[in-house]
Amino acid sequence: MNQEPYTPFQLEILAGIPSELPDHRALPLDANRAPKRPKVLNQNEEILAIKNALRYFPQALHPILSVEFAQELAEYGRIYAYRYRPSYELYARPISEYPGQSEQAKAIMLMLHNNLDPKVAQHPLELITYGGNGTVFQNWAQYRLTMQYLATMTDEQTLVLYSGHPLGLFPSSKNAPRVIVTNGMVIPNYSSRADYDKMAALGVTSYGQMTAGSFMYIGPQGIVHGTTITLLNAARKYLQLSKDQNLGGILWVTAGLGGMSGAQPKAADIVGAVSITAEINPKALLKRHEQGWVQCYSADVDEVIDWAIQAKKDKKTLSIAYLGNVVDLWERLVERKVKVDLGSDQTSLHNPYLGGYYPTGLSLEQSNQLMVSEPEKYQALVQESIRRHFKAIHTMVESEGMYFWDYGNAFLLEASRAQIEGIYKEDGRFIYPSYVEDLMGPMCFDYGFGPFRWVCTSGQDNDLDMSDQIAEKVLLDQLEHADDDIKQQIQDNLLWIREAKGHKLTVGSKARILYADRVGRMKIAQALNQAIATHKISAPIVLGRDHHDVSGTDSPYRETSNIYDGSRFTADMAVQNFVGDAFRGATWVSLHNGGGVGWGEVINGGFGLVLDGTTEAAQRAESMLCWDVSNGLARRAWAGNVEANYAIKQAMQHQPNMKVTLAIPADETLIKNALNQATNQATQK
Ligand SMILES: NC(=O)c1ccc[n+]([C@@H]2O[C@H](COP(=O)([O-])OP(=O)(O)OC[C@H]3O[C@@H](n4cnc5c(N)ncnc54)[C@H](O)[C@@H]3O)[C@@H](O)[C@H]2O)c1
Repeated sequence: MNQEPYTPFQLEILAGIPSELPDHRALPLDANRAPKRPKVLNQNEEILAIKNALRYFPQALHPILSVEFAQELAEYGRIYAYRYRPSYELYARPISEYPGQSEQAKAIMLMLHNNLDPKVAQHPLELITYGGNGTVFQNWAQYRLTMQYLATMTDEQTLVLYSGHPLGLFPSSKNAPRVIVTNGMVIPNYSSRADYDKMAALGVTSYGQMTAGSFMYIGPQGIVHGTTITLLNAARKYLQLSKDQNLGGILWVTAGLGGMSGAQPKAADIVGAVSITAEINPKALLKRHEQGWVQCYSADVDEVIDWAIQAKKDKKTLSIAYLGNVVDLWERLVERKVKVDLGSDQTSLHNPYLGGYYPTGLSLEQSNQLMVSEPEKYQALVQESIRRHFKAIHTMVESEGMYFWDYGNAFLLEASRAQIEGIYKEDGRFIYPSYVEDLMGPMCFDYGFGPFRWVCTSGQDNDLDMSDQIAEKVLLDQLEHADDDIKQQIQDNLLWIREAKGHKLTVGSKARILYADRVGRMKIAQALNQAIATHKISAPIVLGRDHHDVSGTDSPYRETSNIYDGSRFTADMAVQNFVGDAFRGATWVSLHNGGGVGWGEVINGGFGLVLDGTTEAAQRAESMLCWDVSNGLARRAWAGNVEANYAIKQAMQHQPNMKVTLAIPADETLIKNALNQATNQATQK
């Protein structure tokens, strides 16, 4: 498609990495910057890191850039090539504003921009979308080159990204994905945190988190729905709340107002609870307050607690932020014997020593300095803080009957590494279940419900409204024919989609999250595609999901924590998902090491699929979405999860050409007897 004359925005994208040195614009002073990373490279390795970064630039610029990169490495522990930030603003523009020959590639550019939009991203200058270290690219040269490739590629090519590095465009076909992303793939024996620190500083690997490195992050809305479901079901299960009741008078205490954790107070408001969320970083707190996602805040711990006690008494919905360290909040709650009903934590403990978790006793600034200048001392302080953190929570559970869940941030894993006694039960599991073990796993993932999402590439509210109505209609139809096993989930999701617009959740692109199962996702996709074909929706829609889902993620302390057949440390499911999605019609696919709970702890993947109203798009969506959910259902059923067994049998009924190997359950007493018999025979010999 000829778009000439090009706009300045398009021209800058098409120029890629310019041959002339761009102006060095000052970094905005008010930006939320990523913490400095500790110095981990020796001199030879520093030379290699700079040499690696210079590979993107003409030799004539090396004298200037080598000095600049050496300074960046010394100051930040990484080379970001700040000078190469684009001069245009980064945000998801309507798809028609992007240059290019491939509508699919334009949709990917839009999604990339959304993930780097300062309103959406956590540390946009360092290309970090969320989770403290979830990067889209390692440096701005990679960004520029990738955008240029996307703007010039055809539907007969595929762009390959190795941890943010655009390896290049390779010939493929219309049916192949336009982009294949891998982030942080390493040889398993080299997947320690120290390995990551070194390879990331060398500029050869990156931490893509989950949706950050696959351009599918849609702001904290993406997590609000899941958090709402978790809270509701925690209260139903542990506080005996009836199905139609809200959480009036229930106090929930947690921490973190960052990328995902920022969803917590909003979700608490949606279900009518009283919440206190501790956040040590004023920038993160104020961002959520300005967005209206948290109602009030104070740095005075007693004031915060007084507000919560009063709201609890009045059964008033109130989200409070405490500007300070979460450990100080928990310890004061214990001292004052406040009855907290529900407790969790969403500090970034998957990254405890590099700014994910701030130890009590130090200010934010002191921590940021100490973690670089004296890493060992800092690590000891973090571990001590985790011990106090855990102790206060445990006391609250014992004395006030609070229900605590690990919120998938590696809280209990890090607590175990901080040598806390009594953290394991006899069967080797942690004393507190993770939210997946108890709530999301059996209630959602095992039935195929997960965080499906879509983005309207026109950027228009009308399209988003229409898509909400379409999804509501699909869920209503589904509810009419649903079995009792899944009626409650569909009802919760129906309520969600009806109220979603009113919650003003959209930050950045015109996106919607909606938990849906296999059938729901397939039907919504078909209905959206039809609406594009008949011009009820004015431009293509990008489908995707959080990686935190049924099939995309193998994470033994989170998504697959409710797998009990000994296979939770395997990662076949996530890898198969990535490959299976790719050849069934995804527009792009991604596979990452280390999303959510930390480097080396998880393999996860995701996809994006562009619906453009064509029959081919409808076929791709049908085939890919069916696999994308059924893969996990089949694995979960094989592991013995009864809900998944039900769901995969349903799937096989609907899809006669799906034949899944089903597990035949065995009687444990029989096995124990057999083992005893074998032992007796061995001792008699
Ligand atoms: N929201 C979800 O449903 C969900 C699901 C799974 C996992 N998680 C996990 O939750 C964690 C948080 O994710 P995020 O994207 O919000 O990360 P983030 O880094 O953007 O936010 C974490 C926030 O915690 C604050 N913090 C750190 N230590 C603190 C302390 N001691 N006291 C008070 N505040 C402190 C930080 O300042 C930061 O703003 C991650 O580990 C993520 O993997 C979230």
